[in-house]
Amino acid sequence: MQPFEKHIFVCTNQRPAASPKGCCNDKGGSELRVAFVTGLAKRGLKGQVRANKSGCLDACELGPTVVIYPAGVWYLKVTPDDVEEIIETSIVGDGVVKRLVATPDHWERLGQLRAITNTNIKLKNIVAEGS
Ligand code: FES
Repeated sequence: MQPFEKHIFVCTNQRPAASPKGCCNDKGGSELRVAFVTGLAKRGLKGQVRANKSGCLDACELGPTVVIYPAGVWYLKVTPDDVEEIIETSIVGDGVVKRLVATPDHWERLGQLRAITNTNIKLKNIVAEGS
């Protein structure tokens, strides 16, 4: 038996509906993981590549989030329609799907978004304490 050559981690984390971050499962994470499993099987890659369910990968607002190892390629806002292209490009090949890959700009914007969200939560708490 050989270890897997590549792993695809698909976030299927579920949060309560009121969570300010949202979650990948509400955006189709579980269906996405099934699409990867099916796509890998269709190409005869079962046993060589594994599509795992993942807990939160901490890019919730930009999910569904997918990360492929060992390359460490991150994909954001992935849908089942993207799966074949990702498998062809990053699993069969060693490239990246440029329109989906996370860039430094994405991480910067995510940090800004979280700072705004945290400020809004603090303001709501201050208002609630004052009423
Ligand atoms: S819930 Fe998917 S990255 Fe956090």
